[in-house]
Amino acid sequence: MKGIVLAGGIGSRLYPLTRVTNKHLLPVYDKPMIFYPLQILVDAGIRDILIVTGGHNAGDFLRLLQNGKEFGLQQLSFAYQEGEGGIADALRLAEPWAKGDKICVVLGDNIIEGDIRETATKFEKLEQGAMVMLKEVTDPERFGVPVFESGRIIRIEEKPTEPLSSFAVIGVYFYDATVFDRIRRLKPSGRGEYEITDVNNSYIEEGSLHHGMLNGWWTDAGTFESLWHASNMVREKVLRNANAEETVQVRGA
Ligand code: G1P
Repeated sequence: MKGIVLAGGIGSRLYPLTRVTNKHLLPVYDKPMIFYPLQILVDAGIRDILIVTGGHNAGDFLRLLQNGKEFGLQQLSFAYQEGEGGIADALRLAEPWAKGDKICVVLGDNIIEGDIRETATKFEKLEQGAMVMLKEVTDPERFGVPVFESGRIIRIEEKPTEPLSSFAVIGVYFYDATVFDRIRRLKPSGRGEYEITDVNNSYIEEGSLHHGMLNGWWTDAGTFESLWHASNMVREKVLRNANAEETVQVRGA
């Protein structure tokens, strides 16, 4: 399976922080934001990774990440998105690179506590279809929200004013090679974007969308509040790990 990090967009919800740089280059505690989604893919055992970005700062990603050595990678691939057509529009650019392989797509502003290894393994075993990951949240109206009937997802609503469940579809998606045909059939949404939620709904219509639950915390980092929250959560995790390491060293002394 190949991995894709989507790191384009204008980050308008973070103006003026994003006036002269790309959102995914902003700091989240001690690292640039893009490091976290990249690490999610690497931790899932994925080695072949494409970064889709655009705008004036595209070259900064190459300078920052180089060939991915810091992540144990030998090489990284890059694609350039012209314009701001939304998440599914950015994903479209991955088609020639994916070459018919299954893909795991991570939104560049999504940060998780744990890893997605188990779900990735489950998806690898499926012959076809797609898989999304859910997390219970207190503010589902900010996200794609699954609507359930007898335990099955019957549709996903994008940022509903009255959410019908308390779950969010997080920004980690697994797709088979049919995803690109589905993107070609999409129409822009009310906000003028090609929505990833419409891609997921097309799998639901065929009964081939699976879902998994994410363990541990999850946050996006695309608003002032969530960026602040993300930094705090990462900081706590870093300090916790450092303390645990110290305890082990003291015990071993
Ligand atoms: C996007 C998706 C949404 C998903 C969210 C996860 O929202 O459209 O379905 O729940 O990412 O971070 P956006 O970041 O465009 O607001």
